[in-house]
Amino acid sequence: MTTAAPATAADALAVIHARTGNARVRVGLILGSGLGHLTEAVDGVAIDYDDLPGFPHAGVSGHTRKLVVGTLEGVPVAVFGGRAHYYEEGRADAMRLPIEVLAGLGADTLILTNAAGSFLPEIPPGDLMLISDHINYSGRSPLIGEPTDARFVNLTNAYDPALRARLSDAAQAEQIALKPGVYAWYSGPNFETPAEIRMLKILGADAVGMSTVPEVILGRFFGLTCAAVSVITNMAAGLGNEHISHEHTKASAPVGAAKLERILRRTLRGMAGA
Ligand code: HPA
Repeated sequence: MTTAAPATAADALAVIHARTGNARVRVGLILGSGLGHLTEAVDGVAIDYDDLPGFPHAGVSGHTRKLVVGTLEGVPVAVFGGRAHYYEEGRADAMRLPIEVLAGLGADTLILTNAAGSFLPEIPPGDLMLISDHINYSGRSPLIGEPTDARFVNLTNAYDPALRARLSDAAQAEQIALKPGVYAWYSGPNFETPAEIRMLKILGADAVGMSTVPEVILGRFFGLTCAAVSVITNMAAGLGNEHISHEHTKASAPVGAAKLERILRRTLRGMAGA
């Protein structure tokens, strides 16, 4: 019996090149739970993940499973409407191929968004947090098994200070609060216990979520300048009165998503002129 060789980034790139006429992009955006509507804003070609070899196939409700390659605010972009998570199949490198594809499309920048639970009363549900650094509380690296010395990725300033400044400036111009904070990656798919949240707070985290950290590690591995913004959908376990659930996350994300879209659009406009 022969088994098919696993899909490579080159396989997915071949499909994208054929559908887009060899489009090149500058910025990649990976959208989190309930935040996928930004794919609609892109003037370009939408490709279903199912048509892209090696792209996530299972999916999580609340995610839009398509890649859109085109322009947004004058910047050539690739917008990933949904992501694969470590908790789906126990693979921290679940997003390796899409991020390699992004680099293969010529991008130099990756901006990620996610839904997260806040530890800080000053960043309440409906607000946004600019990730300044992360704690890999899941302890998994997407680079385990990578054989080359490139695996020793430096993560100091993984969230690029200049790109963060662009996002902050855009938020200020839009009069939207965008406080910085440290994001802790919890494996999921279950939510945290209140005791775990108290611990993560002591460890220095300001918010918690189930994604982004492995993607930033991969982004840096592929040489991309990275930044990430959390849409706060709830106070983390034990800190608020809402009943924390995926339904609640999906229902609450659009509140912050509207603000996030304004910040992202203004940031891109600034990049288009630079
Ligand atoms: N914990 C983990 N992930 C999340 C949360 C949370 O409280 N809210 C949205 N995503």
